[in-house]
Amino acid sequence: MIRVNENYLKLKSSYLFSEIAQRVSVYQKANPEVQITRLGIGDVTRELPKACTEAFHKAVNEMSDIGTFRGYGPEQGYDFLREKVAQFDYQARNADISADEIFISDGAKCDTGNIQELFSNDITIAVPDPVYPVYVDTNVMAGRTSDFEDGRYGGLVYLECTEKNGFVPDLPKQKVDLIYLCFPNNPTGATISREQLKKWVDYAKKEKALILYDAAYVAFINDKSLPQSIYEIEGARDVAVEFRSYSKTCGFTGTRCAYTVIPKSCMVYDRNGNAYPLHGFWNRRHTTKFNGVSYPVQRAAEAIYIGDGPKQVQELIDYYMTNAKMIRDRMTLLGYVCTGGINSPYIWINTKTDSWEFFDTLLKKAHVVTTPGAGFGKCGNGYIRISAFNMHDKVEKALDAISAALK
Ligand code: MLT
Repeated sequence: MIRVNENYLKLKSSYLFSEIAQRVSVYQKANPEVQITRLGIGDVTRELPKACTEAFHKAVNEMSDIGTFRGYGPEQGYDFLREKVAQFDYQARNADISADEIFISDGAKCDTGNIQELFSNDITIAVPDPVYPVYVDTNVMAGRTSDFEDGRYGGLVYLECTEKNGFVPDLPKQKVDLIYLCFPNNPTGATISREQLKKWVDYAKKEKALILYDAAYVAFINDKSLPQSIYEIEGARDVAVEFRSYSKTCGFTGTRCAYTVIPKSCMVYDRNGNAYPLHGFWNRRHTTKFNGVSYPVQRAAEAIYIGDGPKQVQELIDYYMTNAKMIRDRMTLLGYVCTGGINSPYIWINTKTDSWEFFDTLLKKAHVVTTPGAGFGKCGNGYIRISAFNMHDKVEKALDAISAALK
């Protein structure tokens, strides 16, 4: 008899964004004449920057010529991309990261979901609440939690992020071994200061814990005083892994490219306290389970660092951030307290009511899809997230419809 991994029975039946898509599809089927504007899942709408498509085309041409064709590439990524990442995303900001500490992959979702495989099953894990559901669900699948009760999985330490703490979690009262942090935050759009991040790094050093730092939205930081990488903080190399993605930075949600940084000095321990570099374990996993990102995609990603690439990427970011400002300003004018939308493409709105109810009102009366905060955890109830990823005219139309619906 083939038996199921019973941890899957603990999961809510569908992934948050699949559930929303399902609800929207039911509504659309019943109301085919309605034009729905999607400001729910953070999926980009603008075309790839020209620098990326040119590099992409050129690389595809190389693949069609026997002299330049390539088969399997290095699982960790081509040096041309890893070197640019190290130079422009880290060394340029005085973060001491070298090319061989970077692992190119097909997504930060996959990497943040897969990395938990490397840790023991009896560790204590801290996750923010609200939280990007991947961090929680992958640990549920691996059996590190008990059942879902009263909006939470038993066995996890939930770090409450509320208006009171500016959606930046306080250090846990109990000792934890693995900490998930995400800044600029998904879903709240909150950011973390250097001083606040230093407290987490110091905590991790003291407890021999590990921080998984999801920086997928770093490109949206306008305030240059904010840290862009956890490695700008002294000591972080020894206790942190960082995840980044090209998805939102340059419109690669469908193209797929990301990377994970594991410094060689970052350690994990066995039951006797012996230390091992995490880098070697991730390398072992990556080379066993992954065959690398395609050559043309890596060339397209590389293009954002050279020639007109940086300027074109900035134009793309500015475009979405204009939407973010429009959303934040209008919702504030309507009397709602908003977080995010300044250094992040997400605006987190206190709805003063139940999240799903507010979601339904916006869907049915304004024909706008948002993301109910309750889907991100208990502390998310009473909030919705609006994404800035859409075209200006559609966002404007959606905001007019929201204004009318909420009158
Ligand atoms: C989101 O909307 O939270 C993101 O698009 C999800 C993701 O990047 O996987």
